[in-house]
Amino acid sequence: MRSQRELAIRDERIRELAENISTKQFVQKYSYGITILESMITGYSKSCEQTMGRSLVDSVLYRLKTAESIADKLEKKGYEISFTNAIEQLSDLAGVRVVCSFCDDVYRMDEFLRQRKDVTVYRRKDYIRHPKESGYRSVHLIVDIDYPLGRTGEKVRLEVQIRTVAMNYWAKLDHQLCYKTEDKRNRHGIGQIRQELRSYAEEICDIDKKMLALRKRIEEI
Ligand code: GTP
Ligand code: MG
Repeated sequence: MRSQRELAIRDERIRELAENISTKQFVQKYSYGITILESMITGYSKSCEQTMGRSLVDSVLYRLKTAESIADKLEKKGYEISFTNAIEQLSDLAGVRVVCSFCDDVYRMDEFLRQRKDVTVYRRKDYIRHPKESGYRSVHLIVDIDYPLGRTGEKVRLEVQIRTVAMNYWAKLDHQLCYKTEDKRNRHGIGQIRQELRSYAEEICDIDKKMLALRKRIEEI
């Protein structure tokens, strides 16, 4: 439990953070990153549509992280709530989510972004080959993109999450359900629920594989 004073300090820090992330300079920089990435992704998806005759990408979503969410994440990682820490410690202030039809499309998109000369991959996590304990699956890329409107050599960092429609379905429901289980984490029965959630992620993964196999059979006919 936090004291009234601690809560007041926290609120003040979040207010300051909110001010800093709503400046024109900040919004312009991170929105620029999102716009550039989004146009690369949709451009590639369109070119695939022409060559493969089907669309690679179901949808592209993006967001700038809110002050509340930045604060929660900094605290979770053991940092004080500040704008400097947000910039230095978090790599998902701007995030782009690419939802693909099939699992091989996820890797096509991953490969496309990795081979681009104007995108530097700072970190890559393949949670499809190595799912998280929760059952979560996606490919995550932390990328740096040139920011020509800033200082010489300035980059903007973003997180890209690439997953299938099915993985997205699971992640969205998991997110919703986990919010509701967070305050109940020590209660009896939570372990069983998490285990079930994980098993559903595996069932969904099996369906993804079957759908991909079906598509390949159709392509061969
Ligand atoms: P965190 O974002 O603090 O977890 O930092 P990290 O460096 O460990 O990144 P990680 O790759 O684990 O996760 C980054 C993002 O992926 C999260 O902010 C979520 O959007 C998503 N994510 C990771 N794990 C899960 C999960 O178990 N369930 C759901 N629904 N989303 C997840
Ligand atoms: Mg994490």
